[in-house]
This record gives sequence, structure tokens and C-alpha cells, in this order.
Amino acid sequence: MGLGMGRTRGSAAAACLHVLLAAICAAALVSGGDSMAGAPYTALNSHERVSSQPETVALPQPLSDALDGPVEVPGGYGMALTAHVGERRVHASWTYVDGVPGLNTHVDSWLLGLLDAAAPVGGRYRPAMALNAQQPEGQEMTVSAAPVQAAGTVIVVRQKVKTSGTGGTVSERSETVYVNTVSGAVRGGAELVRPEAVPGIQSRMVGVPAQIATPVRQDIPVGDLVLKPSGELAVSAEVPGNPGGNVTLTMNAADAGAVLSDYGRQVLEQLNAAAIPRPATAPAARHVNCDVVPCAALTYDDGPDARTTPQLLAILAERKAQATFFMTGSNTAANPATAKQVADAGYAIGNHTFSHPYLTKLPIPAVKKEIERTDAAILAATGSTPATMRPPYGAADAAVQGAVGKPLILWAVDSLDWQSKNPAVFVPKVLKEITPGAVVLMHDVQPTTIAGQQELMSTLQAQGYQLVSVPQLFEGTPLVPGHVYRSRPARQ
Ligand code: NI
Repeated sequence: MGLGMGRTRGSAAAACLHVLLAAICAAALVSGGDSMAGAPYTALNSHERVSSQPETVALPQPLSDALDGPVEVPGGYGMALTAHVGERRVHASWTYVDGVPGLNTHVDSWLLGLLDAAAPVGGRYRPAMALNAQQPEGQEMTVSAAPVQAAGTVIVVRQKVKTSGTGGTVSERSETVYVNTVSGAVRGGAELVRPEAVPGIQSRMVGVPAQIATPVRQDIPVGDLVLKPSGELAVSAEVPGNPGGNVTLTMNAADAGAVLSDYGRQVLEQLNAAAIPRPATAPAARHVNCDVVPCAALTYDDGPDARTTPQLLAILAERKAQATFFMTGSNTAANPATAKQVADAGYAIGNHTFSHPYLTKLPIPAVKKEIERTDAAILAATGSTPATMRPPYGAADAAVQGAVGKPLILWAVDSLDWQSKNPAVFVPKVLKEITPGAVVLMHDVQPTTIAGQQELMSTLQAQGYQLVSVPQLFEGTPLVPGHVYRSRPARQ
């Protein structure tokens, strides 16, 4: 370090004005930065407080778990993904929250940004990269986003990215964002504090022993701030060159109160407020991003059937899979309790006409009648009118499309389950033809179809597929009445 020593000492001296480890500061001033870089850290209880100093300084550690303590959020549900993106294997885990689209879309764009950045130059991440991605690789990236505080109208989400190679951890970084559950606004942790207070916070972090050798005060990102209901403020940062990884500074409520911005004070108030209830979301409509995870929409036509449909529901529940049922009006009228069972379990239901005719062979008023009678039967049985329809045999022309008044959901993969009546034939056919984003056609009125579902679903899930409803598959790509859809379009 030599010539740079004076500057090092100056920074260390400034840090010592703030830090509790006076002895180590003194050592740094005497010996310069280099020797400290390799020195073992003094074993200091991270909760130890020194009377003259208001804040606690934690020892260097991997991205501080002290900030994490994942919290249960009403309506929250976890997602996970393993993908091969470029040279890397990426593990991702994150949480969505029902009724808070601002949080969900923020997490999605954060994830897609990371995944696209990992993709080969000029390329983009595709969900197919997450199929069969279990083999170990040299380089790994682990990303996560999870709520760490939630109350009132605020959910605090901590986002972490860790990269590692054969030699161990290469880097870890983290940031914390604050989501307003009513407005959907997402703000960074740095906004919790007044801008003029940031250098003071950086000084305190430089005071942490491992950083004395690294006078990089201005380079310390102050974006990972977790405000707790008690008013304590935990600031975590990766410090370049710090062999111990991250450093966390916990400011007590009095100290934190002195640096909070108006926004920070509002957040603190919300963290101490009673939780505001959010609307529940039907399972088949829950947010899933099929640009991130490989999705398949299994669809079942021609029911409901009082015997076979409940058998399928049991398998779907066991596999925690979503699905869509295109019901005929006649079978719904004949088996209203089964239709209601499907709806009550949260699955999506579509209109498959009343009497299953070739709509292209009917006059337009008769086409409309087929749709209307079926809507009425499904509404009577389930309490809801279907938003989508599927023409029998896939038979539709411009006149039919114009008459049905709903989006027409066809399929990308035809199992031909009704033809083979043999799981050993149709399951391999589906597995061979399926790609992420596909709608798959099957029939829940066929006992042999039910017999193949356990194997089909478990194989798809083992490959990495998320089994979703039609509304989930197309989320974010509006379904237009009269238009025909077979699979989710790839992200542009
Ligand atoms: Ni049919």
C-alpha cells in the first residue's frame, strides 16, 4: 500500500470517531491498512454495547441473516426455480403476495433482469432454460426475494444475489425495497434516510473492523436498509475487499430516528399499524409469471363427469397442480354438483358449448345459443360465468370466432387420449411434444386419461414445469374475445 498509507490512516482515523472498537482502530493507525487485512478479527459479541456509543456493530458475515428472519405475509406463497443460463446454474427463490400486484411485478422484473443479464450476450432468458436443470455446474448464482417485515400498508422485501465458483463465494449483494400494498409503489431502502445522513452511516460502517483496511466509504452501497417496528435500523452492505463478506450495522431507535426521512417515518408508522386485509385470489388466478418459470396448462374437455372428474381433482390436489376444465353445458346441467366441486376447489372453467357440435356447421344464431345455454348452466352450477371457450374439435372460422364473444382457447399439444385410450401412448406423446407455454388438450371423461395423470404431472413437475390454469398461462397477455390462442407467446 505504501504511498497510499496516509489516506488510509486518514480514513481510519475518521472512522474511529464513530466506532466502538477503539483498540483496533488504534492498531490500524499504527500499522496501516495492509496488516489489518490479514489480521484475525477480535471475537466481539455483536450485541455488545459500549456506553459512549449508541450503535452496535456486527462482525463481518455472509449476507446478514440478522436482517432476514423471513416473515409470514397473509396471501404470500413461495416460488422456486433452477435454470441453466449461459455459463451459470441459477437457483432462485422468491415470494409473491396475493392482492399485491405491485410487489409481484417488481419481483418479476428484478428476476428477469438478473436472468437476462446472465444469458449469453445478445440473448435473453427463456423458461426452457429451467427444464431439467439439475446437473451441477462450475458457476452458480443464488438469488432470493422474501418479505422480512410486513404490517399496515408496507411489505419489506429483501433481495439477495450470491455468485460462487469452484473456489467458493465470488460475491454477495443485497438490497431491500419497500412496497406499498395499496398503491403498489416500490421504493428503495436508501429512501428511508435523509440523503445528507448517508455519509455518516457509511462512516459507521467503515468503522467495522474488517473495513479499516478498506477505506472505500464512498463505495459502500447504502441500499440494504431494514427498518424494524421497534425503530431499529439495520444497514447491510458488501464491502469491496472485505474477506469476511458483508457488514451489518444496527442503529438503535434513537440514532435511526435522527436520520430517517419523512418517508422513513411514514414506513415506521405503518410497521406499527394494524394489518390491512387484502382480497384473496382464487388459486387458478394466482400470479405466476410464465416468462420466468416454464409453464404448462393442462386442460380437460367434455366433462364434468360425476365419476372421473372427482378422481382427477384428487390427483391435481395431490400434485398441487392447476388446470382448466372446458365443460359442456349438457354435462354441467347433468352433474351440477361436480361442476361446483371443480369451481369450489379453485380450478378455472371454460365454455365447451352445450351439445358439442361442429360450430362451423351451425347457423350463427345457433352458435350463440350454444354458448349462452352453456354459460347459463355453468353460472347456475358454479356461480360464475366462464371467461373463455373452446370450440369442439377445434372447429372455428371467422364467423364462429365473431359469434362466441369470448377468447377461443385451442391447444398446442393434442394428447389424442380419447383415441389411444392408453396412458402408455398418450403420456409419452404429450411429454415429447410439450414446450414451455403450451396448452395441452385432454379429456377428463375418459377413465384411461385419469389413469395417466399421476405419471404425466409428476414427470412434468420433475422436469421443472409449473402446471398452471389458462388464466395464469396468459397473465400479462390480454385474451381478446374472438381471438384464438394455443400457447403463451414468447417474451419479446
Ligand atoms: Ni370436446
